[in-house]
Order: sequence, then structure tokens, then C-alpha cells
Amino acid sequence: MKFRNTLIALVLFQALGVTAQLPVETPEQKAERLQWWTDARLGMFIHWGLYASPARHEWVKKYERISDEEYQKYFDLFNPDLYDPHKWARMAKKAGMKYAVITTKHHEGFCLFDTKYTDYSATNTAYGKDLIKEWVQAFRDEGLGVGFYYSLIDWHHPDYTIDSRHPQSAETDEEYEMLNEGRDMDKYRKYLKDQVRELLTNYGKVDILWLDYSFPGEHGKGRNDWDSENLLQMVRELQPGIIVNDRLDLRNVEGGWDFTTPEQYKVTRWPHRNSVRIPWETCQTFSGSWGYYRDETTWKGNKQLLVLLIESVSKGGNLLLNVGPTARGTFDSRAQERLEGMGEWMQYNSPSIYNCTQAPDEFIRPDNCLLTYNPETRRLYVHLLDYPLKRFYLKGFAGKIKYAQFLHDRSEIHFGSPRKTVTYNEKQESEDIILMLPVVKPDIEIPVIELILHD
Ligand code: GLC
Repeated sequence: MKFRNTLIALVLFQALGVTAQLPVETPEQKAERLQWWTDARLGMFIHWGLYASPARHEWVKKYERISDEEYQKYFDLFNPDLYDPHKWARMAKKAGMKYAVITTKHHEGFCLFDTKYTDYSATNTAYGKDLIKEWVQAFRDEGLGVGFYYSLIDWHHPDYTIDSRHPQSAETDEEYEMLNEGRDMDKYRKYLKDQVRELLTNYGKVDILWLDYSFPGEHGKGRNDWDSENLLQMVRELQPGIIVNDRLDLRNVEGGWDFTTPEQYKVTRWPHRNSVRIPWETCQTFSGSWGYYRDETTWKGNKQLLVLLIESVSKGGNLLLNVGPTARGTFDSRAQERLEGMGEWMQYNSPSIYNCTQAPDEFIRPDNCLLTYNPETRRLYVHLLDYPLKRFYLKGFAGKIKYAQFLHDRSEIHFGSPRKTVTYNEKQESEDIILMLPVVKPDIEIPVIELILHD
């Protein structure tokens, strides 16, 4: 009801030509709207576009300063004959992912969806169909949340002004002025809004919108260039429940974003704003590139990826893990291998991930471990990154644990008070407990101990 009133107020404001008014929510309402997503913890990012053909980074057009004319060959050849989004969705699900976000348009400007506003879309390639429509259907069929990435940046639209990130970027102000003669950002702003409206109208419920990205400053672009507030207002009207990232350059506007997006790095602690913990999701690649990159060899290993996931949850965040499909529409073997590795672990250990978050401060993290915690079931999870030798100390845990078991096979782990030794004084002894682990590491990449706490 409250939301409806807000919506009516919004429509009135708009009719009166007043600047955007974003819906106001209490922190509790926001937490509730985001809950399915914070519970999910693991999602798949998919970067797919014409850049899959050069297969050397989705920024290839910029990095190699390729003109529209030269880039056209990738459009002319585009025909992903092996595209089967059901396969993708099944692989994502098997890896333990609960939602997925796909590039409907990346910086190159190519639209994977059917659009009225440009010919530069999949429907006009040899493939001839709306790739997003099939994708949404397939991922929904597997019960996964669906999200759209849409690039605010556009290196193909004739009215998008040349800026520092553009393939035709210039050196001097005069050069920029010359290059931008005749380009009209008003028209681009309208285009951008029209396309986002299409995306949020033609595909049913959309769970996440991932807009990318702002770079305010000299020869940059920010909220005024995108008309961010009005754009977001439209988004909220079209899809009231949708979850939106923070790249519209509205970080200091109330209601201007839902979650923050640390990209390709690990946060040192749960991100805060005004001393309050905020929702966050780190997006990460398997290798160094988002788009399919044939010759990239810096692929992360299975354990590194698992640590990335567990560590994110241990600091209250999500992981969005990227796959860059090939020009034929397949996940290459390196990506498949990693997804399988995640899935193997998740199959047995996902209760330490889903619905979990940072452990309460009273639980001290043992060396070489990561802790996660399920506030509903009040179970605490100890992830053993480096398998210890038999006696495993939990400092300050005495009196807190009712039962201990491995998560993967629910086999009991005995525990008790440490024996008096020269290294322990009376006080420490009374506060710590010791778990008796089997000498042989269980056949699990990162074994997890599940601790059932006293009420
Ligand atoms: C950056 C890059 C882009 C990638 C994105 C993912 O903004 O420009 O290529 O899509 O990050 O977070």
C-alpha cells in the first residue's frame, strides 16, 4: 500500500515536471526486498557480445582503437550456432548459482535483444533471433533469478559523445570538440531510456538491473549524461521489486542504488556507508577478461575460486562469477571445469553459503580459517583452508557449542577442553575448546566444520 502511494506521488511529480523522486524505503523494507538475493550469495555473470569473435577482451574495440567500419565484420559474421541457454542454465545451477546476469548490451553497443531503436542487434545478424528472450526462458525454467546488465556507455551510437573511454578518444579539448560536432547526447539519453524501458517491459519480471558505468570528470560521463535519477525512477516504476547496482553515479542520493560492486578485488571488510554495513556483491572473472579471451592464461584455480566465494560470504557479501561464452555460444572447457569444481564443493557444502553471512564478533576466527554463520539456524561454519593436524583449537568457544560435525558427511567431531599444558594458563583453558579432527583430510577441497551452538 505504502509503495502504491509512493508510486502515485511519483507519477504526479512527473506530470508536474518536477525532478525525479525515488521511492523512499526504511532499511528494513530494503533488506526485505533484497533478501532473496542476499540469501542466494552466488550468481553467474555472462559477458557475451560481438567481442567473442576477436576473442581478445570485451574492450578490444577501445584497446585497438577499432573503427565502426572495421568492427562491422564481427557483426556480419555473428552466428552462434551452438547457443543453447538451457545448457548454460543447467551448468550455472549445478555450480550452485542461484541467479544470473547477462550483458544485454556491452560498451560496443551491440544489442543481444530485439529492439525498436537500432538495427545493431542480434535479430539483424545471421542468427536472426532475440538471444535474451531464449535466455530468460531457459534460466527461469531452471528456477534461477534473472538479471540484465546494460551498458550506459555506447561506442556505436552516433550521438554518444566521444569521451576518454571511447575507441576514438582524443588528446586535446579542441580535438574532442571537433569529434563531437553533430553528436547529440539528448538523443542518446532518450535511446538509453527507451532501451531500458524495452528490457523492463518485454521480458516479464526482471530481478536485477546492472547498469555499467559512470566515470564523471573531464571527458567523462556521470549522472547528468545518463539522466540517472529519471532513468532510475522509470526503472522503479516498471519493476518495483528490482535490485539495482550502484554505477549510475547516484551513490550519494537516497534510493539511488541497492548494492555496491567491488570489481576484481577482495574487500578487506564488509563495506560500510556512514558507518552502516551495506549490501555488496563482488564481480570476478575466471581469467583476466570478461568477454571470451582465447589466449588469456591467467585462470584462477578451483580452490582460489572457492575461497573467493567463502570469503565474500564471511564478510556479508555475494559473488558474481563471470563466464565469457564463445562466438559459437558455448562455455569453453576451462570455464566448464571451474563451474564443475564449484558445483562439486557446493553439492555438499552449500549450507555454509546460502542464507549465511558474517559470523557474530564473539566468535574468533582461527588461523587459516574462514567463518560463516546462518542467523536463522544459528549454525556456525568453520572453513578449513589449510587442513590442521588433529587437535584444532577454537579460542573463546568454551560453553558455546552443543555439537560439532563435518558438513559434507555429517560425521561427528569430538570436542572437549584442552589439557593443561605449559602453553596454556588456567584462564585460557577455561575459555577454549579443542576439536579432534581425523588425521587424514576428508576428500573435499575445503572441508567445513558445522558447529551447532547452544541456544
Ligand atoms: C567494467 C568493464 C566491463 C565489465 C564490468 C563488469 O566496468 O568496463 O568490461 O563489464 O566492469 O563489472
